[in-house]
Amino acid sequence: MPNTDSDTAMAKFPVLRELRGGRVLLRELTEADVTDSYVRWMNDPEIVRYLESRYTAHTTEDILEYVRGIRIDPNMMMWAICSTDTGEHVGNIKLGPVDWNHRTGDIGLMIGERSVWGQGYATEAIDLLSGYAFEDLGLRRLTAGSYEQNTGSIKAFLRAGFQVDGVWRDHYVSEGETQDRICLGLVGETLQAPGSTKESGWKPYRSDVLVGINYSLVPFSEELITEAYIGWLNDPEINRFLEVRYTSQSKESALGYLRSIDRSGSSYFWGVKAHRSGEMVGTATLQSERVGAPAELGLMIGEKDYWGKGAALEALDLVCRFGFSKLNFPKITAGTYGVNMAMNFTLKRLGMEIEGTIRDAYTLNNGESVDEIRWGVFPGEWKSRQGQMHETHA
Ligand SMILES: CC(C)(COP(=O)(O)OP(=O)(O)OC[C@H]1O[C@@H](n2cnc3c(N)ncnc32)[C@H](O)[C@@H]1OP(=O)(O)O)[C@@H](O)C(=O)NCCC(=O)NCCS
Repeated sequence: MPNTDSDTAMAKFPVLRELRGGRVLLRELTEADVTDSYVRWMNDPEIVRYLESRYTAHTTEDILEYVRGIRIDPNMMMWAICSTDTGEHVGNIKLGPVDWNHRTGDIGLMIGERSVWGQGYATEAIDLLSGYAFEDLGLRRLTAGSYEQNTGSIKAFLRAGFQVDGVWRDHYVSEGETQDRICLGLVGETLQAPGSTKESGWKPYRSDVLVGINYSLVPFSEELITEAYIGWLNDPEINRFLEVRYTSQSKESALGYLRSIDRSGSSYFWGVKAHRSGEMVGTATLQSERVGAPAELGLMIGEKDYWGKGAALEALDLVCRFGFSKLNFPKITAGTYGVNMAMNFTLKRLGMEIEGTIRDAYTLNNGESVDEIRWGVFPGEWKSRQGQMHETHA
């Protein structure tokens, strides 16, 4: 095993053995694998979106040269990721460069057949390769780097047991915007049994407590799922304009919702706490499909004593501040029932503009159909309303 000073850098890896998992089979990548499909993957903008190879067009010849180069490089190795069932070659995974002095190695991968994305191929391939790197090669630590918006990649590494070691701010430029580099790492001793999964829970920025004048937003946690909170969710006067009214709410359903937000890379959930009493009086959310896409806010003031006292406006203002200043969301949106005067008024005060009406979008408990009003605000608009908002609400 090439992990002592004397054989450093001279030895080629041992003959790569086949690594077989439930769904994924890894076998050594050879020149014969440089097929039209492989060339197609390397020229597919969706696939190379977060890869450094995207700056040039690729041909069979240059990929062949690349694969040959890897095969003679003592510090690099590459496997074909194949389906265990059919043997179909669906992507590649690379280990290297390996630093034999420190016994570390970097992993990069590509699932080229987009039809199998989201089926766990990447997670299993990383898991299999990690096991090989630690057990067969005696490596100590594995690393990987990912664009902050490459959620699939980050999740796959986290699922395979990697942790976020750090963030290099604004490290990449992608589609005219900067993106952080998420540095992922796995130290051998912490390796889980192959196939094990971990909650991902990675967020580019965890929310601290967001402090306002009369209210603060605290990241929602299990302890905040109190009887009072469940009571709000089931109270017809409070849930009148909320989708939760269709199902009976319980501690379990609330916990399920909290977990789904925790797992998301780009959604946030807070309890709204009143400074005066120290009590939680409501909740706020900011949800987005991915970092960089518009985010939708949501709010519930559950303590009726706090209705009409500015809690909603201050809470949403804090949400916008976090969403724009910290997360750089390009836009924040909200949807309200047309008849929900209090919420429509609050969103207007917040600086939002009406973007449209979805006619008869909802049916109230009394059978009446009501419109949904769509609201939106850009960072500049929100900022320019700040002075005005505080003047009228000081
Ligand atoms: C990133 C990539 C490797 C993920 O491969 P994959 O086989 O789809 O990944 P997995 O199925 O193992 O998915 C792991 C998790 O990411 C999620 N995921 C996958 N693609 C996603 C996407 N585009 N957006 C959001 N989540 C995604 C999966 O749903 C899964 O989440 P879960 O654990 O919560 O269920 C693949 O999309 C790819 O090759 N992209 C192009 C090349 C690239 O970017 N490589 C990584 C460079 S660091």
